[in-house]
Amino acid sequence: MVHPNNDIIPTVEGLAYGGDYNPEQWPREVWDEDVRLMREAGVNIVSVNIFAWARINPGPGEWDFEQLDAIMDLLADAGIKADLATSTASPPPWFSEAHPETLPVNAEGVRLNSGARAEYCPHAPAFRDAVVEMASRLAERYTGHPALAMWHVGNEYYRSCFCDFAADAFRAWLLERHGSLAGLNDAWGTVFWSQTYTAWSQVLPPRICAETPNPGLVLDWQRFSSDALLKLFRSEADAIAKYSSDKPITTNLMVTGDFSGIDYHRWGDHVTGPNRLVATDHYLIPEHDTDIEWPAQVAFGADASRGLAGGSPWLLMEQAANSSAWRRGYFAKKPGDQLRHSLSYVARGSEGAMYFQWRASRYGAERYHSAMLPHGGEDSKVFREVKEFGAQLKQIAEVKGSRVVARAAVLLDFESSWAAKTPGQPSADMATYPELRRWHAALWRRGVTTDIVNPAWDLSGYEFVFAPHLYLLDSDAHLRDYVEHGGTLVIGPYSGIVDRNDHVRPGLPGAIRDLIGVRVEEFVPIPEGETIALDDGTEGQTWSEAAHALDADVVASFTDYPSTGAIFHRHVGQGEVWYLATRPTDLNPLLDRLGISTDVPEGLELVRRRHEDGRSYLFAINHTEKPQQLQATGKDLLTGKPWTEASILEPGQGVVIRERSEAHKQ
Ligand code: GLA
Repeated sequence: MVHPNNDIIPTVEGLAYGGDYNPEQWPREVWDEDVRLMREAGVNIVSVNIFAWARINPGPGEWDFEQLDAIMDLLADAGIKADLATSTASPPPWFSEAHPETLPVNAEGVRLNSGARAEYCPHAPAFRDAVVEMASRLAERYTGHPALAMWHVGNEYYRSCFCDFAADAFRAWLLERHGSLAGLNDAWGTVFWSQTYTAWSQVLPPRICAETPNPGLVLDWQRFSSDALLKLFRSEADAIAKYSSDKPITTNLMVTGDFSGIDYHRWGDHVTGPNRLVATDHYLIPEHDTDIEWPAQVAFGADASRGLAGGSPWLLMEQAANSSAWRRGYFAKKPGDQLRHSLSYVARGSEGAMYFQWRASRYGAERYHSAMLPHGGEDSKVFREVKEFGAQLKQIAEVKGSRVVARAAVLLDFESSWAAKTPGQPSADMATYPELRRWHAALWRRGVTTDIVNPAWDLSGYEFVFAPHLYLLDSDAHLRDYVEHGGTLVIGPYSGIVDRNDHVRPGLPGAIRDLIGVRVEEFVPIPEGETIALDDGTEGQTWSEAAHALDADVVASFTDYPSTGAIFHRHVGQGEVWYLATRPTDLNPLLDRLGISTDVPEGLELVRRRHEDGRSYLFAINHTEKPQQLQATGKDLLTGKPWTEASILEPGQGVVIRERSEAHKQ
């Protein structure tokens, strides 16, 4: 459940601009230079105290807030707001030494050592108590501080632990979910391989074992681990809310990763609505996305974040100005990339743009991570662009609070993506994340603004809904309702196969069979590098199915198996549903069939944000190498000049046009 909220950072004037700020790494005189340069760059908010546990709590029962007080005062004097973190993501070595049981244990049973960060078990009582105490002390001390804009709990939650505390917590979670040991045995199908449990003590986390583990165990473990991190986040958020009830509380999520750790949609209740804010970190990862260009990757990150926020504005909490320390191979962004990427995030609903980090560190694991102020100093491409974007954000501040207009949705279900990765699948290549990326990118190339949302949420406003891979689906009722009321739904293969316990439904494809009017006889995976031909001249890859129409039109068949269909179409109520029994190598022919226009040249990014009172803004970014014309009239807020039908968007240029007419549709 998500709660709409258009005013996510009421305490910051205009759009947010800044980054992680770690002045504890620098001598005092550098702080003054920081503040001078921040003001020059238009920075109005920084995230502080993210990794400062060792500084403010240097030993058991020792507290020292002098430096943090000075940092907060410095910011307040400079008119810069603080996104104040609780510093709980990195317990210092003294803590791990005093409480060795709080160090995480991996699936092999190895207890990890201190020496890096995030060295904690989310279930260890001493750690849980410590973070609540930390959050309470900080909230009590800084609640009325003039620099305080919002609270930042932890940092990038992802840690899981396989220790005995975890095992106990897992059993309690399982009891609540399945009601009894008998319920658990049933849900996990433990009769298979004689895995039946006769006492709770026999139930363990999916620690490394002799052979393929029970998929039900693996799936429930992921759900449990996600819930445990939510519980940890909530324990700090609740502690803060006791002292500070008027400032947003957030944490930097990684909504756009490969969907591996957290079911962010289950976090919805706790990161949306009044005094909550969806904030995401997004780092571009070229090695994972060789065939999908960066602007499309930016759009995917933004559209998934906005999806989580239920269409409300959200905040880009971290991005990299240039290279990231953790990726293979250092790289430099091309001139202007940083500006275009940042503008695209804002176009897609972010209420500003923030970075990791303000000033590049001289030491530590991330000393070669890029920053707003690089080692190269002020006289650098990066800092010049940082200043330029700071100025741009001021020029477009009036977009704050407006919402993005999206025509289509791509469905993302974290549980389903986890289930599709459980062991023993017919094809290891039927992963959800890359397929969603591919569909989203195909729509991006056609200029279609797309929300990435949960299948159970309200879909009624979308003209098109794409479900590239919904392997786990309990019921088709919600999707059917969308279609019956006039929607167009496209469902990819290997969908609707299992229920919430990962039990295969006989009568494939289980949950969607009646909706699509298609029967699947068997799966025929396609080896990597090979394709399967369709009789409409297109090809499929990765997967195919021997599928037969029960009550659907066969639009295309596999040439080698003419008796079975490959693409199906069916009218349902006022809408229509398409089913694909393979993953098309090229998604364009299908988009053509759907009538999704190609008027927008590929690489011309067009996104509209609109206020409730009708004021409308067209963000246009020309990622192509050719000048482009836009069908828009109004005023470009970035240049302050009128925009007419004859105006030209130069290669690499971005504009934000306050539109003259209020009745724009995409
Ligand atoms: C994450 C973390 C930051 C930093 C950056 C580097 O986003 O939150 O502390 O490590 O990655 O890319």
